[in-house]
Amino acid sequence: MIRSDGSADTMNLNSSRSLYERAKRLMPGGVSSPVRAIRPYPFYVKRAEGPYLWDEDGNRFIDYCLAYGPMILGHRNPEVMRRVTEQLERGWLYGTPTALEVELAERIISHYPSMDMIRFVSTGSEATMAALRIARGFTGKDKIVKIEGGFHGAHDSVLVKAGSGATTIGVPDSKGVPADTAKNTILVPYNDLQAMEVALREGDVAAVIMEPVLGNIGPVLPVDGYLEGVRKVTEEHDVLLIFDEVITGFRLALGGAQSYYGVRADITTLGKIIGGGFPIGAVGGRREIMENVAPQGGIYQAGTFNGSPVSMAAGLATLDILERGVLDRINEMGSYLRKGLSDIVEDLKLGYSVSGIASMFKVFFGPLPRNYSEALRCDKEGYLRFFWRMLEAGIFLTPSQYETDFISASHDREIIDKTLEAFKLYLKA
Ligand SMILES: Cc1ncc(COP(=O)(O)O)c(C=O)c1O
Repeated sequence: MIRSDGSADTMNLNSSRSLYERAKRLMPGGVSSPVRAIRPYPFYVKRAEGPYLWDEDGNRFIDYCLAYGPMILGHRNPEVMRRVTEQLERGWLYGTPTALEVELAERIISHYPSMDMIRFVSTGSEATMAALRIARGFTGKDKIVKIEGGFHGAHDSVLVKAGSGATTIGVPDSKGVPADTAKNTILVPYNDLQAMEVALREGDVAAVIMEPVLGNIGPVLPVDGYLEGVRKVTEEHDVLLIFDEVITGFRLALGGAQSYYGVRADITTLGKIIGGGFPIGAVGGRREIMENVAPQGGIYQAGTFNGSPVSMAAGLATLDILERGVLDRINEMGSYLRKGLSDIVEDLKLGYSVSGIASMFKVFFGPLPRNYSEALRCDKEGYLRFFWRMLEAGIFLTPSQYETDFISASHDREIIDKTLEAFKLYLKA
């Protein structure tokens, strides 16, 4: 256990601790992104391989954070490394189009029938920012509907009741977002069709933006018929439906949540997995919508690193592997892990619950939530204590009750069984 003075019972974290002391003076909260600010201090990673991370003090951890999603094949996958290295040999940034982006666009579109055209960007945040501008530009309307606890990156329109690190550190409504912007974001609870319908009835709504499976407070899954219902009411009110599949894309299925649940979006955002661990984002949709993006149309989007050849090469290598039946195997392993966790949680009778789908999972320290406000009722401090116990046992779960844990292709049965033993021991404790 980490004590309040920052010392640990069994782990040597001296190097991490002193790096954090330096970092605190140099970077807000000592980190480059808020969710990494594990209390009382984070561990600093030096290298990774397969399912493992090693920190600066030589501790080894089984990684269930997987960089918050992109590393679905585990770390240093040899095929991804080979394709990236080959690309590096040829140069890594040209400022011109490349064959790689044409190939990756064709590949993605072949799995997402809702997309005729796509724009590559560098992050998921840029993808959702572009998606909203495209929706507004296409419909001529300003308002958007967002789900409470949904996280779509760190830009103004969506930093309203945002999940992920924003909720973990207690700033779901960021300061600095102009009131004039926030007023155009209408919030509705997840899994509540009636609230959605009321919001859409008010009019002037360009789009609903949502994670089909709420990944940034959980995962929290859609109740039966919810996504179909959202599709129906958005159509009835002539409102575009944006599925933010930055987490679920190429994870729930190759065709993402929209293929898994059989619900077609108007605009889709992707990121994480499609860059194989290198920076990426993408926004795509029907031709009549996407034709309005510059330079073909008047909705502006641009970026120096858009379609970065290294990200394209890593993404193509990753999709090649996932398409070879690997995604199915990862998802089977996810079911195995969740079944083991459910049995443990049921035996212990602590009132905890297990959520998840495909390669996503979470133990909630409370009843299974259906939306943001129910997720907030879970015992987040208890979760943090549990997190540290697991870390000392060599298992790195995401450091927040509100972040999804992931498994990768490199997590085999032996590793998962070892993890289940630790869950059993430390949940009890
Ligand atoms: C659903 C979703 N959308 C968008 C983003 C933002 O992506 P990025 O961090 O690449 O900007 C995230 C990040 O976790 C996400 O989970």
